[in-house]
Amino acid sequence: MTKTRHNQLPAKIPAHVAIIMDGNGRWARERKLPRLAGHRAGVDNLRRVIEACGEFGIKYLTLYAFSTENWDRPENEVRGLLNILDDVIDRELDELHENEVRLWHLGRLERLSDELQEKVNHAIELTRDNDRLVLNIAWNYGGRDEIVHAIEKIIASGFAAEDIDENLVSRHLYTAGCPDPDLIIRTSGEFRVSNFLIWQGAYAEWYVTPTYWPEFGREELLAALIEYESRDRRFGRVPGPAKSY
Ligand code: FPP
Repeated sequence: MTKTRHNQLPAKIPAHVAIIMDGNGRWARERKLPRLAGHRAGVDNLRRVIEACGEFGIKYLTLYAFSTENWDRPENEVRGLLNILDDVIDRELDELHENEVRLWHLGRLERLSDELQEKVNHAIELTRDNDRLVLNIAWNYGGRDEIVHAIEKIIASGFAAEDIDENLVSRHLYTAGCPDPDLIIRTSGEFRVSNFLIWQGAYAEWYVTPTYWPEFGREELLAALIEYESRDRRFGRVPGPAKSY
């Protein structure tokens, strides 16, 4: 965790930052609070990070809020997280819209109540023309499930085997139209991919910090951007002219 206040912005800002917001439970446990208090503190932190993304000129922010595996958590935690999603839309939608944030959902909505599905769809529809920041919320999302879903759609659309290439698959993912993440951040010190953007993150740079999500603020995002600027992204290539085979 850095306490330094950086004022100089890096020259190279990633277009798309994705975050695994981890450590809410441990943040709460260390304070002898229930796990849901950690998730609520995590939500309070969203505002700081979204504002910082606007300030730094990040165009796409993807947040891993609820995975396909999170349904296996205790019922009260799952219910609490669903209530949090509901409350966040009620409370924050107008302001996000005023700030020209476009909301998008990654994942399957089917397991949400009809009412919550409507709220999510309304938020997407309301903000569809905004272009200051695209905010992707991964909810009931799993990277493997996303690829299965893409294959289902490709087959249902009648594509033949010879039509299939990486571009076609990308266009059938939940992130269609969105550039691949340049930088993936994971809080709470875990070095795991956890089924997050496994296709899109093929060449992403990773930044792992021990900081728990509720305490990950502007300064640490900036530290991640400074670290990102120092990375030499080669995408599997080496410098110099390519040979024509
Ligand atoms: C991981 O911490 C966090 C989650 C599974 C939930 C994250 C969700 C939020 C912050 C709510 C976001 C809501 C919206 C609408 C974007 P953990 O519970 O796995 O923490 P632990 O590993 O310390 O137990």
